Amino acid sequence: MSKKPFILGIESSCDETAASIISEDNQGNPIILSNIVSSQEDVHKKFGGVVPELAARSHLEKIDLIVQKAIDDSGINLNKIDAIASTAGPGLIVCLSVGLSFGKTLAASLKKPFIAVNHLEGHALSPKLNSKINYPYLLLLISGGHSQYLSVKNLSEYQRLGTTIDDAVGEAFDKTAKILGIEFPGGPQIEILAKKGDPNKYDLPKPIFNRGGCNLSLAGLKTAILRISKEIKTNQDRFDLAASFQKTVIEILYKKTKVAFNEFEKKIQQKEKKFVVAGGVAANKEIRKMLVDLCKEENYEPIFPPIELCGDNAAMIALVGLEKFKLKRFNELDFPAKPRWPLDENAAFLKGAGIKL
Ligand code: KG4
Ligand code: ZN
Repeated sequence: MSKKPFILGIESSCDETAASIISEDNQGNPIILSNIVSSQEDVHKKFGGVVPELAARSHLEKIDLIVQKAIDDSGINLNKIDAIASTAGPGLIVCLSVGLSFGKTLAASLKKPFIAVNHLEGHALSPKLNSKINYPYLLLLISGGHSQYLSVKNLSEYQRLGTTIDDAVGEAFDKTAKILGIEFPGGPQIEILAKKGDPNKYDLPKPIFNRGGCNLSLAGLKTAILRISKEIKTNQDRFDLAASFQKTVIEILYKKTKVAFNEFEKKIQQKEKKFVVAGGVAANKEIRKMLVDLCKEENYEPIFPPIELCGDNAAMIALVGLEKFKLKRFNELDFPAKPRWPLDENAAFLKGAGIKL
């Protein structure tokens, strides 16, 4: 029997410092031996968003302790690690540089291979940490910085079918929360407030709902919410606005996912249809429920990562490292941090003013 690989993953692209060690069971399924995530919520709360310099400083202060804790928790001796995988992008360059340099230095000193990981690929593969999934599959990636439909053909082979042309879904949740006076990061709080509200109270816009394929646009929602927020008086009004916002996002995602299913089927000839949802917003239970129901209607198998692995973590980075390690896809130690690193390098850049869809 060949020796099982042990991979150390390191993540520092935004406001989570994380490290994880994973391996495989006898069937080749990944097993998480340790998964340490240290969030910087308290550092950024009073600023209402992530402050890059403070985030980088916090990563620098904690990275060695977090990696040490991941090693201790795994019960694996550092010398047993077969490869080190660090997030190299996309993200804030000052933050990426911390985990990337740390990973490279450790790899060099241990004389082990180094693997540069795309953070978005980490999210894309994260459901594989608890489900067996074969390629190809349709992926909806909904996080704080990205919202995309992608056809995942193989490891590192993506074709983008649709993307947001302005705000990401998580960003829309966070901005709505900020308008409603909820501390950063407010996305998860909106879900809680929405439970107490009337989702039909406010009629909110759904830009490019009936055109633009499965591309998304959410910035108009925030503008409408800002306008309505000036008129609301009671706490119940706030709950109603949160509920109306979440309902509108759900309606947009329902419609656009149907379009994405259609486009995916045109590209992939196979009976088994799998739909993977990943990224921080995949933790939202109402969005999950709607997508599961839609999958039933459309004969897709819905697959989600466990709730605790929807947000940023290093287990998903180690998982990409593991898949690349098995294919001996290693990187040189001069691999740069990439603030922008799309999964589909051939897809057109769609953000900005004057977009015609
Ligand atoms: O994937 P992630 O942890 O970080 C990025 O790579 O962006 O996603 C974070 C985003 C934030 O915008 C956060 O508000 C949102 O995911 N989020 C949620 C929920 N939990 C996290 N949005 C809506 N409902 C939730 N339950
Ligand atoms: Zn993320």
